[in-house]
Amino acid sequence: MSIVVDPDWWKSLFDEVYLLTDARSVCNQEITSLEVDLISELLPINAHHRILDLCGGHGRHSMELLSRGAQCCVLLDYSRGLIGRARTAAQEKKYNLSCVQGDARWTGFSTGSFDYVLLMGNSLGYQVEHESDLQILMEANRVLSPGGAIIVDVVDGAELKSSFRPQAWHEIGEDILVCRERELEDGLVKAREIVISKKHGQVRDCTYAIRYYKPEAVSALLGRAGFERVQVLSGFSSQKMKSDFGFMNYRTIATAFKP
Ligand SMILES: C[S@@+](CC[C@H](N)C(=O)[O-])C[C@H]1O[C@@H](n2cnc3c(N)ncnc32)[C@H](O)[C@@H]1O
Repeated sequence: MSIVVDPDWWKSLFDEVYLLTDARSVCNQEITSLEVDLISELLPINAHHRILDLCGGHGRHSMELLSRGAQCCVLLDYSRGLIGRARTAAQEKKYNLSCVQGDARWTGFSTGSFDYVLLMGNSLGYQVEHESDLQILMEANRVLSPGGAIIVDVVDGAELKSSFRPQAWHEIGEDILVCRERELEDGLVKAREIVISKKHGQVRDCTYAIRYYKPEAVSALLGRAGFERVQVLSGFSSQKMKSDFGFMNYRTIATAFKP
């Protein structure tokens, strides 16, 4: 049976439950630290650069960069819950993180206001309109200053297809069970996710769909968005253990510069 998905699923899924179901990838300090090592290896970021963490979720990459000496990070995400979390965490640590709720397709930031844009943790491919991903990358290009760069981290579509698993489940602690059923259809991976608490019963039953890209398609999309000097690294994994981490197992990391 085909998985039916509400096109607006991405507007409500990224909440406290997501921080549980994806905790192995997005709430693991060691993994975030490895990812920021990679960002720093690929981009010559210094303390004074202005960094935009686009679709930054609860701000894990911004927070790690700020802990390493970055002085100006801006986080934009659609999810009010995740933005609120990031704001509280930054205030506690007295970090200069400005948190903005908004849509990455039209951020409202001034043209040329950042040196680097991060688009980490598989944050493309959520909107049903095919052109939305291009729109997000064009917006990133617009807000960068000339010579500025973007780093994009998305699921490695080639790897996703070749190692596709229609079912997966994992436990979180003693109580939570996450079950996923998936199918591939027209360049999309669709999933139904059921989250169960052993103590309290069903926590969530939802569906979502993500467009995936082969590494060469990421490169082409960045070119269409106006970037040059695109470099693509495929098959990246920050996970040390072998398991099914949703779409976070193998990723394509691309960097590109605004002329
Ligand atoms: C898988 S999470 C990754 C978050 C973060 N980059 C990380 O690595 O932890 C994807 C994020 O993209 C955000 N997002 C997706 N499409 C968006 C859009 N058009 N505008 C703003 N945020 C968006 C979601 O709200 C979600 O927080």
